[in-house]
Amino acid sequence: MLLATLFPMGVASQSYDPSVSSRSDAPMVEVIELGLRRATTQSLLLAEALKDQQNLLPRTYEKGKVQTIRYDHWVSGFFPGLLWMLYENSGDDRLRRFAELYTKRVEPAKKLTNTHDLGFMLYCSFGQGFRLTANSHYLDVIREGTQSLLTRWNPKLGVIRSWDFGKQWQYPVIIDNMMNLEMLCFMTRQTTDSRYMKVAETHAKTTIRNHFRKDNSTFHVVSYDTLSGQPHAKNTAQGYADGSAWARGQAWGLYGYTMMYRETHNRIYLKQARKIAAFLMNHPRLPADGVPYWDYDAPDIPNAKRDASAAAIMASALIELSQLDKGKMAPKYLALAEKQLRTLSSPEYLAEEGEQGGFVLKHSVGHMPEKREVDVPLTYADYYYVEALMRLKKLL
Ligand code: GLY
Repeated sequence: MLLATLFPMGVASQSYDPSVSSRSDAPMVEVIELGLRRATTQSLLLAEALKDQQNLLPRTYEKGKVQTIRYDHWVSGFFPGLLWMLYENSGDDRLRRFAELYTKRVEPAKKLTNTHDLGFMLYCSFGQGFRLTANSHYLDVIREGTQSLLTRWNPKLGVIRSWDFGKQWQYPVIIDNMMNLEMLCFMTRQTTDSRYMKVAETHAKTTIRNHFRKDNSTFHVVSYDTLSGQPHAKNTAQGYADGSAWARGQAWGLYGYTMMYRETHNRIYLKQARKIAAFLMNHPRLPADGVPYWDYDAPDIPNAKRDASAAAIMASALIELSQLDKGKMAPKYLALAEKQLRTLSSPEYLAEEGEQGGFVLKHSVGHMPEKREVDVPLTYADYYYVEALMRLKKLL
């Protein structure tokens, strides 16, 4: 399918555009196939480029170069996970071999006790690998990583500690941490030991109590007083301001509570996911094409940078929520996710073949306050874009 046929009205707009949903009338299945094909050719290119670079995994593409990290960076698991999903989609053996190679590079992360990001690192890589191959070694790695994650669990506070840095915080927990709970839920399913799930549930409930504002947006960082057990600080690290709505943080929350509802069938989480979805879908500064600005309160909107990673995470979460929620909003969740995926699959966001060092999506924002990774591809944007495409493909 030619791009011109898929997107007859041109590229995505960078400002409000009420006509944007009519940009393309291509059937969604064709949009999905375009995205998955492009993700496959790009990822093979990137996998080939790094295959002899021992221990390295991709992070972004900046200054004309693929920028890499090792197992101990929070994004290490996304590229192997992306390769597993693309292997699942096509059955291409090259993807499987690369998925195995890059998954192995993440393995030392299982011993880390200085980060909460073990769910991202290990469940996105070994978890996807185990789902598709039932390799028992992969399960062993996840088991060990889960024990490492639990060293950060504080039963008195009812949360898993996120960061060990930041002198101003006694016990910081970021909304992103909701994403690590899926690995705990998985361990309970695997072992029937309910302790993992209990930790996940307690963390999720404590986070509902303390992270969310009246309008259902979320703070990025909440730090707990270790004596009183109550929050002593509510801040941001990656958002515009303490009181602003950092786009990726809102998306992590939506994804996290949707996932918790899937895992537990506890309607508390469905209620929370619905509230977050309502905040986002009704937000006056969500652009009509569905790709959020990096912060909903960025002062330079409508000229603020967009964050494709937030859109991809949100789309993936909304597709899942549309299937779990039997209420009247379900079709609206799906419609917004489809719109987001159409926009991300347009030439404005989807890298051309051979472009961007093999990354799939352009225009994400990693850390605006520190002016790092601004308007660049990011490995997790690619991961959640492909996950969303795969989820939608299975539905259609
Ligand atoms: N978990 C860090 C981020 O979303 O940038």
